[in-house]
Amino acid sequence: IDIKALRGATGGITTIDPGYKNTGSCESAITFLDGEKGILRYRGYSIEELAEKADFLEVCFLLIFGELPTEEQLSKFDKDIKEESQVDEDMKKILDGFPKSAHPMGVLSSLTSALIAFNPGSVDVDSEEEMYGAIVKILAKFPVLAAWTMRKRKSLPLDYGDNSLGYVENLHKMMFAKPNETYVANKIVNEALDKLLILHADHEQNCSTSTVRIVGSSHAGLFASLSAGISALWGPLHGGANQAVIEMLEAIKEDGGDTAKYIAKAKDKNDPFRLMGFGHRVYKNFDPRAKIIKKAADEVLGDLGIEDPVLDIAKGLAEVALKDEYFVQRKLYPNVDFYSGIIYRALGIPTEMFTVMFALGRLPGWIAQWREMRLRKEPIGRPRQIYIGENLRAFKEISER
Ligand code: ACO
Repeated sequence: IDIKALRGATGGITTIDPGYKNTGSCESAITFLDGEKGILRYRGYSIEELAEKADFLEVCFLLIFGELPTEEQLSKFDKDIKEESQVDEDMKKILDGFPKSAHPMGVLSSLTSALIAFNPGSVDVDSEEEMYGAIVKILAKFPVLAAWTMRKRKSLPLDYGDNSLGYVENLHKMMFAKPNETYVANKIVNEALDKLLILHADHEQNCSTSTVRIVGSSHAGLFASLSAGISALWGPLHGGANQAVIEMLEAIKEDGGDTAKYIAKAKDKNDPFRLMGFGHRVYKNFDPRAKIIKKAADEVLGDLGIEDPVLDIAKGLAEVALKDEYFVQRKLYPNVDFYSGIIYRALGIPTEMFTVMFALGRLPGWIAQWREMRLRKEPIGRPRQIYIGENLRAFKEISER
Protein backbone atom coordinates (compact mmCIF):
# COMPACT_ATOMS: atom_id res chain seq x y z
CA ILE A 1 0.00 0.00 0.00
CA ASP A 2 1.26 3.45 -0.85
CA ILE A 3 0.71 5.28 2.42
CA LYS A 4 1.61 8.60 0.80
CA ALA A 5 -1.21 8.16 -1.71
CA LEU A 6 -3.68 7.53 1.11
CA ARG A 7 -2.43 10.52 3.08
CA GLY A 8 -4.59 13.56 2.57
CA ALA A 9 -7.65 11.62 1.45
CA THR A 10 -10.50 13.67 2.86
CA GLY A 11 -13.66 12.61 1.14
CA GLY A 12 -14.87 9.56 -0.71
CA ILE A 13 -16.33 6.43 0.78
CA THR A 14 -16.38 5.83 4.54
CA THR A 15 -16.64 2.21 5.62
CA ILE A 16 -18.28 1.41 8.92
CA ASP A 17 -16.87 -1.47 10.91
CA PRO A 18 -17.65 -1.29 14.66
CA GLY A 19 -14.86 -2.87 16.68
CA TYR A 20 -12.72 -2.79 13.48
CA LYS A 21 -13.42 -6.50 13.01
CA ASN A 22 -12.42 -6.34 9.35
CA THR A 23 -10.36 -3.18 9.17
CA GLY A 24 -6.58 -3.19 8.84
CA SER A 25 -5.06 -0.07 10.40
CA CYS A 26 -1.48 -0.47 9.20
CA GLU A 27 1.10 -2.64 7.50
CA SER A 28 3.37 -4.34 9.99
CA ALA A 29 6.38 -6.67 9.86
CA ILE A 30 6.32 -7.60 13.54
CA THR A 31 3.77 -10.29 14.36
CA PHE A 32 1.99 -12.74 12.09
CA LEU A 33 -1.09 -14.51 13.29
CA ASP A 34 -3.58 -16.77 11.58
CA GLY A 35 -6.66 -17.12 13.75
CA GLU A 36 -8.13 -19.99 11.75
CA LYS A 37 -4.99 -22.13 11.87
CA GLY A 38 -3.89 -21.01 15.34
CA ILE A 39 -0.50 -19.67 14.18
CA LEU A 40 1.45 -16.97 16.02
CA ARG A 41 4.92 -15.80 14.95
CA TYR A 42 7.13 -12.95 16.10
CA ARG A 43 9.27 -11.63 13.23
CA GLY A 44 8.81 -14.98 11.47
CA TYR A 45 9.76 -17.22 14.41
CA SER A 46 7.05 -19.53 15.77
CA ILE A 47 5.80 -18.80 19.27
CA GLU A 48 6.29 -22.47 20.14
CA GLU A 49 10.02 -22.31 19.31
CA LEU A 50 10.55 -18.94 20.99
CA ALA A 51 8.78 -20.07 24.18
CA GLU A 52 11.00 -23.14 24.29
CA LYS A 53 14.38 -21.73 23.25
CA ALA A 54 14.56 -17.97 23.78
CA ASP A 55 14.52 -15.86 26.90
CA PHE A 56 12.37 -12.78 27.36
CA LEU A 57 15.15 -10.24 26.79
CA GLU A 58 16.07 -11.88 23.47
CA VAL A 59 12.40 -11.73 22.47
CA CYS A 60 12.30 -8.04 23.43
CA PHE A 61 15.25 -7.37 21.12
CA LEU A 62 13.76 -9.50 18.35
CA LEU A 63 10.38 -7.77 18.43
CA ILE A 64 11.76 -4.26 18.66
CA PHE A 65 14.71 -4.48 16.25
CA GLY A 66 13.57 -7.27 13.93
CA GLU A 67 16.35 -9.88 14.40
CA LEU A 68 17.45 -12.23 17.15
CA PRO A 69 20.41 -10.57 18.87
CA THR A 70 23.98 -11.81 18.60
CA GLU A 71 25.71 -12.46 21.94
CA GLU A 72 27.39 -9.07 21.65
CA GLN A 73 24.16 -7.24 20.84
CA LEU A 74 22.32 -8.95 23.69
CA SER A 75 25.02 -8.15 26.20
CA LYS A 76 25.05 -4.45 25.14
CA PHE A 77 21.24 -4.30 25.29
CA ASP A 78 21.27 -5.87 28.76
CA LYS A 79 23.99 -3.45 29.94
CA ASP A 80 22.21 -0.39 28.50
CA ILE A 81 18.98 -1.42 30.26
CA LYS A 82 20.74 -2.01 33.56
CA GLU A 83 22.36 1.41 33.40
CA GLU A 84 18.89 2.97 33.30
CA SER A 85 17.35 0.98 36.14
CA GLN A 86 17.35 3.84 38.67
CA VAL A 87 14.00 5.55 39.15
CA ASP A 88 13.93 9.13 40.44
CA GLU A 89 13.40 9.27 44.21
CA ASP A 90 10.58 11.81 43.72
CA MET A 91 8.60 9.14 41.86
CA LYS A 92 8.20 7.47 45.26
CA LYS A 93 6.30 10.51 46.52
CA ILE A 94 3.82 10.06 43.71
CA LEU A 95 3.46 6.39 44.59
CA ASP A 96 2.98 7.35 48.24
CA GLY A 97 0.07 9.57 47.24
CA PHE A 98 -2.05 6.65 46.05
CA PRO A 99 -4.29 4.84 48.50
CA LYS A 100 -3.12 1.29 49.20
CA SER A 101 -6.36 0.00 47.70
CA ALA A 102 -5.77 1.68 44.30
CA HIS A 103 -5.88 -0.78 41.41
CA PRO A 104 -2.29 -1.53 40.32
CA MET A 105 -3.14 -0.89 36.65
CA GLY A 106 -4.29 2.65 37.47
CA VAL A 107 -1.15 3.22 39.53
CA LEU A 108 1.12 1.77 36.82
CA SER A 109 -0.47 3.86 34.08
CA SER A 110 -0.11 7.02 36.21
CA LEU A 111 3.50 6.27 37.15
CA THR A 112 4.37 5.62 33.50
CA SER A 113 2.91 9.02 32.62
CA ALA A 114 4.74 10.61 35.54
CA LEU A 115 8.06 9.24 34.21
CA ILE A 116 7.74 11.74 31.35
CA ALA A 117 8.22 14.63 33.79
CA PHE A 118 11.45 13.08 35.07
CA ASN A 119 12.74 12.15 31.61
CA PRO A 120 11.69 15.04 29.34
CA GLY A 121 14.32 14.05 26.77
CA SER A 122 12.38 10.85 26.07
CA VAL A 123 9.35 12.64 24.65
CA ASP A 124 10.34 14.31 21.43
CA VAL A 125 12.27 11.44 19.88
CA ASP A 126 12.70 11.33 16.14
CA SER A 127 16.04 9.71 15.36
CA GLU A 128 16.71 6.00 15.84
CA GLU A 129 19.33 6.88 18.44
CA GLU A 130 16.88 8.96 20.49
CA MET A 131 14.31 6.19 20.17
CA TYR A 132 16.84 3.66 21.46
CA GLY A 133 17.50 5.87 24.49
CA ALA A 134 13.78 6.06 25.33
CA ILE A 135 13.33 2.32 24.72
CA VAL A 136 16.08 1.14 27.09
CA LYS A 137 14.88 3.65 29.70
CA ILE A 138 11.36 2.28 29.78
CA LEU A 139 12.46 -1.37 29.58
CA ALA A 140 14.61 -0.69 32.64
CA LYS A 141 12.19 1.37 34.72
CA PHE A 142 8.89 -0.34 33.95
CA PRO A 143 9.63 -3.52 35.98
CA VAL A 144 10.72 -1.33 38.89
CA LEU A 145 7.43 0.59 38.77
CA ALA A 146 5.41 -2.62 38.44
CA ALA A 147 7.19 -4.21 41.41
CA TRP A 148 6.79 -1.05 43.50
CA THR A 149 3.09 -1.04 42.70
CA MET A 150 2.75 -4.53 44.13
CA ARG A 151 4.92 -3.90 47.18
CA LYS A 152 2.95 -0.79 48.07
CA ARG A 153 -0.25 -2.85 48.10
CA LYS A 154 1.39 -5.39 50.37
CA SER A 155 2.95 -2.67 52.59
CA LEU A 156 6.44 -3.99 51.82
CA PRO A 157 9.45 -1.64 51.61
CA LEU A 158 10.42 -0.85 48.01
CA ASP A 159 13.20 -2.90 46.47
CA TYR A 160 15.60 -1.76 43.72
CA GLY A 161 16.58 -5.18 42.56
CA ASP A 162 20.00 -6.50 41.73
CA ASN A 163 21.69 -5.77 38.41
CA SER A 164 23.71 -8.97 38.60
CA LEU A 165 20.49 -10.92 37.98
CA GLY A 166 18.80 -11.53 34.63
CA TYR A 167 15.85 -9.34 33.59
CA VAL A 168 13.09 -11.72 34.70
CA GLU A 169 14.88 -12.95 37.84
CA ASN A 170 15.44 -9.35 38.86
CA LEU A 171 11.76 -8.57 38.29
CA HIS A 172 10.82 -11.50 40.51
CA LYS A 173 13.26 -10.35 43.16
CA MET A 174 11.92 -6.79 43.10
CA MET A 175 8.42 -8.15 43.55
CA PHE A 176 9.03 -10.83 46.15
CA ALA A 177 12.29 -10.20 48.04
CA LYS A 178 11.56 -10.14 51.75
CA PRO A 179 13.13 -7.38 53.85
CA ASN A 180 16.30 -8.57 55.65
CA GLU A 181 16.36 -11.90 53.81
CA THR A 182 18.66 -12.94 50.98
CA TYR A 183 16.69 -13.50 47.81
CA VAL A 184 16.98 -17.05 46.51
CA ALA A 185 15.91 -17.50 42.90
CA ASN A 186 13.59 -20.40 42.10
CA LYS A 187 14.41 -21.81 38.65
CA ILE A 188 10.94 -23.27 38.01
CA VAL A 189 9.20 -20.05 38.97
CA ASN A 190 11.49 -17.83 36.91
CA GLU A 191 11.29 -20.08 33.86
CA ALA A 192 7.49 -20.08 34.04
CA LEU A 193 7.49 -16.30 34.39
CA ASP A 194 9.88 -15.93 31.44
CA LYS A 195 7.60 -18.10 29.28
CA LEU A 196 4.49 -16.17 30.28
CA LEU A 197 6.12 -12.86 29.40
CA ILE A 198 7.22 -14.23 26.00
CA LEU A 199 3.72 -15.51 25.22
CA HIS A 200 2.23 -12.10 25.97
CA ALA A 201 4.94 -10.06 24.24
CA ASP A 202 3.00 -9.09 21.11
CA HIS A 203 -0.27 -9.84 19.42
CA GLU A 204 -0.46 -7.47 16.46
CA GLN A 205 -3.21 -4.84 16.37
CA ASN A 206 -5.19 -5.69 19.54
CA CYS A 207 -6.97 -3.00 21.57
CA SER A 208 -3.99 -1.82 23.68
CA THR A 209 -1.48 -1.99 20.82
CA SER A 210 -3.79 -0.05 18.51
CA THR A 211 -4.13 2.48 21.34
CA VAL A 212 -0.34 2.79 21.63
CA ARG A 213 -0.02 3.29 17.87
CA ILE A 214 -2.85 5.79 17.64
CA VAL A 215 -1.67 7.88 20.61
CA GLY A 216 1.89 7.70 19.28
CA SER A 217 0.69 8.80 15.85
CA SER A 218 0.09 12.28 17.30
CA HIS A 219 3.81 12.20 18.30
CA ALA A 220 2.79 12.28 21.96
CA GLY A 221 5.93 10.31 22.88
CA LEU A 222 6.64 6.71 23.85
CA PHE A 223 5.86 6.89 27.57
CA ALA A 224 2.53 8.71 27.02
CA SER A 225 1.57 6.16 24.36
CA LEU A 226 2.45 3.29 26.70
CA SER A 227 0.47 4.82 29.55
CA ALA A 228 -2.59 4.90 27.27
CA GLY A 229 -1.90 1.30 26.25
CA ILE A 230 -1.84 0.23 29.91
CA SER A 231 -5.27 1.81 30.41
CA ALA A 232 -6.64 -0.03 27.38
CA LEU A 233 -5.20 -3.32 28.64
CA TRP A 234 -6.87 -2.85 32.04
CA GLY A 235 -10.36 -3.68 30.75
CA PRO A 236 -11.87 -7.13 31.54
CA LEU A 237 -12.52 -7.80 27.84
CA HIS A 238 -8.77 -7.46 27.17
CA GLY A 239 -5.90 -7.86 29.65
CA GLY A 240 -8.16 -7.70 32.67
CA ALA A 241 -9.53 -11.10 31.67
CA ASN A 242 -6.84 -13.01 33.62
CA GLN A 243 -7.93 -11.29 36.85
CA ALA A 244 -11.59 -11.80 35.90
CA VAL A 245 -10.90 -15.55 35.39
CA ILE A 246 -9.69 -16.10 38.95
CA GLU A 247 -12.44 -13.90 40.40
CA MET A 248 -14.99 -15.92 38.46
CA LEU A 249 -13.48 -19.23 39.64
CA GLU A 250 -13.50 -18.01 43.24
CA ALA A 251 -17.14 -16.93 42.92
CA ILE A 252 -18.04 -20.38 41.53
CA LYS A 253 -16.24 -22.02 44.45
CA GLU A 254 -18.03 -19.79 46.98
CA ASP A 255 -21.31 -20.73 45.33
CA GLY A 256 -20.72 -24.45 45.90
CA GLY A 257 -18.56 -25.27 42.87
CA ASP A 258 -21.44 -26.07 40.50
CA THR A 259 -19.74 -25.55 37.11
CA ALA A 260 -22.83 -26.67 35.15
CA LYS A 261 -24.80 -23.78 36.63
CA TYR A 262 -22.26 -21.28 35.33
CA ILE A 263 -22.03 -22.90 31.92
CA ALA A 264 -25.83 -22.49 31.71
CA LYS A 265 -25.56 -18.84 32.78
CA ALA A 266 -22.93 -18.18 30.08
CA LYS A 267 -25.26 -19.66 27.45
CA ASP A 268 -28.30 -17.69 28.60
CA LYS A 269 -28.65 -14.67 26.31
CA ASN A 270 -30.68 -12.81 28.97
CA ASP A 271 -27.80 -13.15 31.42
CA PRO A 272 -24.83 -10.80 30.91
CA PHE A 273 -22.47 -13.40 32.45
CA ARG A 274 -19.70 -14.64 30.15
CA LEU A 275 -17.21 -17.36 30.88
CA MET A 276 -14.06 -15.32 31.45
CA GLY A 277 -11.01 -16.70 29.67
CA PHE A 278 -13.09 -18.22 26.88
CA GLY A 279 -13.26 -16.94 23.33
CA HIS A 280 -11.01 -14.70 21.33
CA ARG A 281 -11.56 -12.04 18.70
CA VAL A 282 -9.05 -13.56 16.31
CA TYR A 283 -8.43 -17.19 17.30
CA LYS A 284 -11.53 -19.05 16.27
CA ASN A 285 -10.10 -22.57 16.52
CA PHE A 286 -7.56 -22.50 19.29
CA ASP A 287 -5.19 -20.03 20.88
CA PRO A 288 -1.64 -21.39 20.27
CA ARG A 289 -0.46 -19.60 23.40
CA ALA A 290 -3.10 -21.41 25.45
CA LYS A 291 -1.67 -24.78 24.35
CA ILE A 292 1.85 -23.84 25.45
CA ILE A 293 0.69 -22.29 28.68
CA LYS A 294 -1.61 -25.17 29.60
CA LYS A 295 1.40 -27.48 29.44
CA ALA A 296 3.48 -25.01 31.48
CA ALA A 297 0.63 -24.69 34.01
CA ASP A 298 0.52 -28.47 34.48
CA GLU A 299 4.32 -28.56 34.93
CA VAL A 300 4.45 -25.62 37.36
CA LEU A 301 1.58 -26.93 39.48
CA GLY A 302 3.20 -30.37 39.53
CA ASP A 303 6.70 -29.07 40.31
CA LEU A 304 5.52 -26.74 43.04
CA GLY A 305 3.20 -29.43 44.41
CA ILE A 306 0.23 -27.08 44.43
CA GLU A 307 -3.26 -28.31 45.17
CA ASP A 308 -5.95 -25.69 44.96
CA PRO A 309 -9.75 -26.21 44.73
CA VAL A 310 -10.05 -23.12 42.52
CA LEU A 311 -7.73 -24.76 40.01
CA ASP A 312 -9.84 -27.93 40.08
CA ILE A 313 -12.88 -25.83 39.19
CA ALA A 314 -10.91 -24.36 36.28
CA LYS A 315 -10.12 -27.84 34.97
CA GLY A 316 -13.73 -28.94 35.32
CA LEU A 317 -15.04 -25.86 33.57
CA ALA A 318 -12.68 -26.27 30.62
CA GLU A 319 -13.57 -29.96 30.26
CA VAL A 320 -17.32 -29.30 30.23
CA ALA A 321 -17.18 -26.23 27.99
CA LEU A 322 -14.98 -27.94 25.42
CA LYS A 323 -17.71 -30.56 24.85
CA ASP A 324 -20.71 -28.24 25.09
CA GLU A 325 -22.46 -27.52 21.77
CA TYR A 326 -22.86 -23.77 22.52
CA PHE A 327 -19.11 -23.32 22.96
CA VAL A 328 -18.13 -25.73 20.20
CA GLN A 329 -20.46 -24.06 17.65
CA ARG A 330 -19.16 -20.59 18.46
CA LYS A 331 -15.58 -21.85 18.59
CA LEU A 332 -15.08 -20.61 22.12
CA TYR A 333 -11.96 -22.18 23.60
CA PRO A 334 -9.95 -21.31 26.70
CA ASN A 335 -7.61 -18.46 25.77
CA VAL A 336 -4.13 -17.65 27.11
CA ASP A 337 -5.63 -15.71 30.00
CA PHE A 338 -7.54 -18.69 31.28
CA TYR A 339 -4.26 -20.46 32.03
CA SER A 340 -2.03 -17.46 32.75
CA GLY A 341 -4.25 -16.54 35.71
CA ILE A 342 -3.85 -20.08 37.02
CA ILE A 343 -0.04 -19.91 36.82
CA TYR A 344 0.18 -16.43 38.35
CA ARG A 345 -1.93 -17.67 41.24
CA ALA A 346 0.34 -20.68 41.68
CA LEU A 347 3.38 -18.38 41.68
CA GLY A 348 1.88 -16.37 44.53
CA ILE A 349 1.16 -13.26 42.47
CA PRO A 350 -1.86 -11.41 43.89
CA THR A 351 -4.92 -11.48 41.61
CA GLU A 352 -5.08 -7.72 41.11
CA MET A 353 -1.46 -7.83 39.84
CA PHE A 354 -2.24 -10.25 36.99
CA THR A 355 -2.92 -7.55 34.43
CA VAL A 356 0.29 -5.80 35.47
CA MET A 357 2.12 -9.04 34.63
CA PHE A 358 0.43 -8.97 31.23
CA ALA A 359 1.57 -5.35 30.74
CA LEU A 360 5.16 -6.35 31.61
CA GLY A 361 5.02 -9.01 28.92
CA ARG A 362 3.33 -6.78 26.34
CA LEU A 363 5.80 -3.91 26.86
CA PRO A 364 8.25 -4.94 24.07
CA GLY A 365 5.35 -5.47 21.66
CA TRP A 366 3.96 -2.01 22.35
CA ILE A 367 7.44 -0.52 21.95
CA ALA A 368 8.07 -2.41 18.69
CA GLN A 369 4.73 -1.30 17.25
CA TRP A 370 5.30 2.32 18.31
CA ARG A 371 8.79 2.32 16.80
CA GLU A 372 7.58 0.79 13.55
CA MET A 373 4.78 3.34 13.31
CA ARG A 374 7.20 6.24 13.83
CA LEU A 375 9.90 4.88 11.48
CA ARG A 376 7.29 4.38 8.75
CA LYS A 377 6.17 7.97 9.31
CA GLU A 378 2.57 6.92 9.53
CA PRO A 379 -0.05 9.69 9.52
CA ILE A 380 -2.04 10.61 12.60
CA GLY A 381 -4.77 8.02 13.34
CA ARG A 382 -8.15 9.58 12.74
CA PRO A 383 -11.09 7.27 11.90
CA ARG A 384 -14.27 8.62 10.34
CA GLN A 385 -17.88 7.99 11.40
CA ILE A 386 -21.40 7.75 10.05
CA TYR A 387 -23.32 10.57 11.67
CA ILE A 388 -26.71 9.42 13.02
CA GLY A 389 -27.72 12.50 15.03
CA GLU A 390 -30.19 15.34 14.42
CA ASN A 391 -30.28 17.41 11.24
CA LEU A 392 -29.84 21.17 11.50
CA ARG A 393 -32.14 22.60 14.21
CA ALA A 394 -32.90 26.16 15.25
CA PHE A 395 -31.50 27.10 18.70
CA LYS A 396 -34.19 27.22 21.45
CA GLU A 397 -33.88 29.83 24.17
CA ILE A 398 -33.67 28.25 27.65
CA SER A 399 -37.08 29.66 28.60
CA GLU A 400 -38.67 27.78 25.67
CA ARG A 401 -37.16 24.32 26.37
N1 ACO B 1 -18.94 -16.80 27.26
C1 ACO B 1 -20.13 -17.01 26.70
N2 ACO B 1 -20.46 -16.65 25.44
C2 ACO B 1 -19.51 -16.03 24.71
C3 ACO B 1 -18.22 -15.77 25.23
C4 ACO B 1 -17.93 -16.19 26.56
N3 ACO B 1 -16.75 -15.97 27.11
N4 ACO B 1 -17.47 -15.15 24.30
C5 ACO B 1 -18.25 -15.02 23.22
N5 ACO B 1 -19.48 -15.56 23.46
C6 ACO B 1 -20.60 -15.68 22.51
C7 ACO B 1 -21.27 -14.33 22.27
O1 ACO B 1 -22.34 -14.14 23.18
C8 ACO B 1 -21.75 -14.50 20.86
O2 ACO B 1 -22.88 -15.34 20.85
P1 ACO B 1 -24.05 -15.14 19.75
O3 ACO B 1 -23.41 -15.41 18.43
O4 ACO B 1 -25.09 -16.15 20.14
O5 ACO B 1 -24.52 -13.72 19.90
C9 ACO B 1 -20.62 -15.29 20.18
O6 ACO B 1 -20.02 -16.05 21.25
C10 ACO B 1 -19.55 -14.41 19.51
O7 ACO B 1 -19.05 -13.51 20.50
P2 ACO B 1 -18.54 -12.02 20.20
O8 ACO B 1 -18.70 -11.20 21.44
O9 ACO B 1 -19.18 -11.52 18.94
O10 ACO B 1 -17.03 -12.27 19.92
P3 ACO B 1 -15.94 -11.16 19.90
O11 ACO B 1 -14.90 -11.61 18.93
O12 ACO B 1 -16.53 -9.81 19.68
O13 ACO B 1 -15.38 -11.16 21.40
C11 ACO B 1 -14.13 -11.66 23.34
C12 ACO B 1 -14.22 -11.78 21.80
C13 ACO B 1 -14.29 -10.18 23.77
C14 ACO B 1 -12.74 -12.14 23.77
C15 ACO B 1 -15.23 -12.53 23.98
O14 ACO B 1 -15.10 -13.87 23.59
C16 ACO B 1 -15.27 -12.42 25.52
O15 ACO B 1 -15.89 -11.50 26.04
N6 ACO B 1 -14.56 -13.37 26.23
C17 ACO B 1 -14.48 -13.31 27.66
C18 ACO B 1 -13.43 -12.28 28.06
C19 ACO B 1 -12.02 -12.75 27.78
O16 ACO B 1 -11.63 -13.87 28.07
N7 ACO B 1 -11.19 -11.82 27.21
C20 ACO B 1 -9.78 -12.09 26.93
C21 ACO B 1 -9.51 -12.01 25.50
S1 ACO B 1 -7.88 -12.55 25.17
C22 ACO B 1 -6.87 -11.28 25.49
O17 ACO B 1 -7.25 -10.13 25.65
C23 ACO B 1 -5.46 -11.63 25.58
